[in-house]
Amino acid sequence: MSIRCAIVGATGIAGQQFLSALIQHPFFKVVRLAASSKSAGKNYREAIRQEDGQVSWYVEPDYLNTYADMMVEDAATMPLEGLDLVFSAVESSAARDLETRYAEHLPVISTTSAYRYETDVPIIIPAANGGHAQLIHTQRTARKWRGFVVPGPNCTTTGLAIALAPLHRAFGVDRVIMTSLQAVSGAGRSPGVGSMDIVDNIVPYIPNEEGKVERETQKILGQLAAEAIDPANFPISATCTRVPVLEAHTETVYAALSKPASLAEVREAMTTFGGDINPSTHPSAPKQWITLHDDPFRPQPRVDRDVDGGMTTSVGRLREETVLGIGVKFVLVSHNTKMGAAKGALLVAEDLRLRGFL
Ligand SMILES: NC(=O)c1ccc[n+]([C@@H]2O[C@H](COP(=O)([O-])OP(=O)(O)OC[C@H]3O[C@@H](n4cnc5c(N)ncnc54)[C@H](OP(=O)(O)O)[C@@H]3O)[C@@H](O)[C@H]2O)c1
Repeated sequence: MSIRCAIVGATGIAGQQFLSALIQHPFFKVVRLAASSKSAGKNYREAIRQEDGQVSWYVEPDYLNTYADMMVEDAATMPLEGLDLVFSAVESSAARDLETRYAEHLPVISTTSAYRYETDVPIIIPAANGGHAQLIHTQRTARKWRGFVVPGPNCTTTGLAIALAPLHRAFGVDRVIMTSLQAVSGAGRSPGVGSMDIVDNIVPYIPNEEGKVERETQKILGQLAAEAIDPANFPISATCTRVPVLEAHTETVYAALSKPASLAEVREAMTTFGGDINPSTHPSAPKQWITLHDDPFRPQPRVDRDVDGGMTTSVGRLREETVLGIGVKFVLVSHNTKMGAAKGALLVAEDLRLRGFL
């Protein structure tokens, strides 16, 4: 029997990626849509119609007709009966109250930052730290919830944590310097990035982003302790910038390693990462969690973002780094609204189902 889900924030970019990813999903079925009071009471097509009349379906392929006639409800009052799960993709300022309301009764899997930094809340990427899900037991007991909240990472954290996870496992990571070149879709539609500010330009600052990336990566690559995650203790220095790319974040990464490793060993660790995730239990998982490129002109966001359904982390320009200490440097591309948001959250749901939480 299908697990019945609501998509909250269904009218936004991440919400639309959920709708697209859940078409004919073997385990999950969308039965309810919700967004702000502005959209509530309209059918889905009208809810995403802009003031100038344009219907803002964002995602390829065009699945609008599948959802066009479904009613959008107010996320604050949406009834929870008949639901087994909530996928939350709401604007961060509204997320805390809404997710609390749902989690009292139902599992909530979220793309938002509302609960990411709570000590009893894991941030999960299945191949990296699926075992952190055990923290859900602590969370439920402490908060007296029947449900729970599990968020995925920030979209810039996602690619970085995936690329570092096999290195940390095999060799230990000592310190990291990362500069991101982030796509405009990462800012969502509301307020989004103004075209006059980003076309022909690079914006060298994204408010609140760098601290999130540093803290979340340490948490994901940390160890599950008694009632919290003991974060990985290597320092990370992040610089996050916005570039005129529609989808996919590019990141240049330098990672100092605790043990010397040849490039062949690093390649082996990266390309075998995630190999234990089974596609029959995780249909949203990439065939290859990390795709390594030898061509020095790859990865590129336009060329590589949709490889493997937008779920692989494409890595290239892998080289030894000696100036800053023994380690490696590389460039990665990760799809921010697929693996970095909705499809990544769906993959978390598949993992929690396998572990018996759904
Ligand atoms: N875009 C990305 O790459 C990305 C990646 C990872 C995580 N995230 C996170 O995912 C969430 C959604 O991001 P997005 O890019 O999809 O943003 P978006 O395109 O701006 O969409 C925001 C959604 O939140 C809804 N919303 C706004 N205020 C609300 C309220 N008070 N009550 C209920 N719903 C409300 C909007 O509904 P209306 O249409 O009715 O206003 C819309 O559905 C954010 O928390 C973001 O940080 C985004």
